[in-house]
Amino acid sequence: MSERVPLVIGNWKTNKKVAEVYDFLQEIQGKLPDPKKVEVGIAAQDIYLHEMVKRSKELDIPVSVFAENVHWADEGSYTGETSPAALADIDVSGSIVGHYERRKMFKETNGSVGLKVTATLRNGLVPIVAIAEDATHYNPDDEDMAPLTEIAVGLAGVDKAKAENIVIAYEPAWAIGASEAPSLEIIEHAGKVIRKSLAILFTQEVADKIRIQYGGSATPENSKEILGLEDIDGLLIGRASLEPAAFLSMVNDAI
Ligand code: PGA
Repeated sequence: MSERVPLVIGNWKTNKKVAEVYDFLQEIQGKLPDPKKVEVGIAAQDIYLHEMVKRSKELDIPVSVFAENVHWADEGSYTGETSPAALADIDVSGSIVGHYERRKMFKETNGSVGLKVTATLRNGLVPIVAIAEDATHYNPDDEDMAPLTEIAVGLAGVDKAKAENIVIAYEPAWAIGASEAPSLEIIEHAGKVIRKSLAILFTQEVADKIRIQYGGSATPENSKEILGLEDIDGLLIGRASLEPAAFLSMVNDAI
């Protein structure tokens, strides 16, 4: 039986001005559940991360702060990039890696995703690895099933001993920024395919410890049902995470 603690993360993308960031933190102060029941995170633009970490500590808000992207080198001549070592140094908890918007608009590949995943793990950060691959054609009951390419290639270099710290966010390309999420059947099927892929790449024991989030048009209206699915252990929320009330309602659905 799994003892995976649900993980709900807001992905603010390139939204919010600094005053709105502070207002949001104040709005959720004292309203988040016990982190032993649900872990909560927010991924924001790099310029806000240091202050978000400091304020959430000061205000005693049990929220983890995540980057939305990270470079693979700890230091060096990479103008405009953010080092995973620098994120760890300011107590950021992790980073989204390979979000579909980055794969599509900024040409990220499974190769660069792999480098970034090992770089985050090396620095003690949690990688939220976003998977946009169509899982509907895979059969998790097939003994000879090949793992999803984004997992087989993207996570090939990961040390088995550290793999359980990875989080997978299943975000089908067509559901991101859309008007509705896929059916519960599609999401549950994808969750099984992803866990089977992880078991093939690592071991069943490791796969059973890895949390799989769903993302893509998750809202307060559909979050409870999605979170009730056996292989789904949390949400990666875009638009609905920008409003404190909607975000809190979805966080509470994870209890
Ligand atoms: P959405 O975005 O919830 O606005 O569809 C999700 C995401 O891109 O992480």
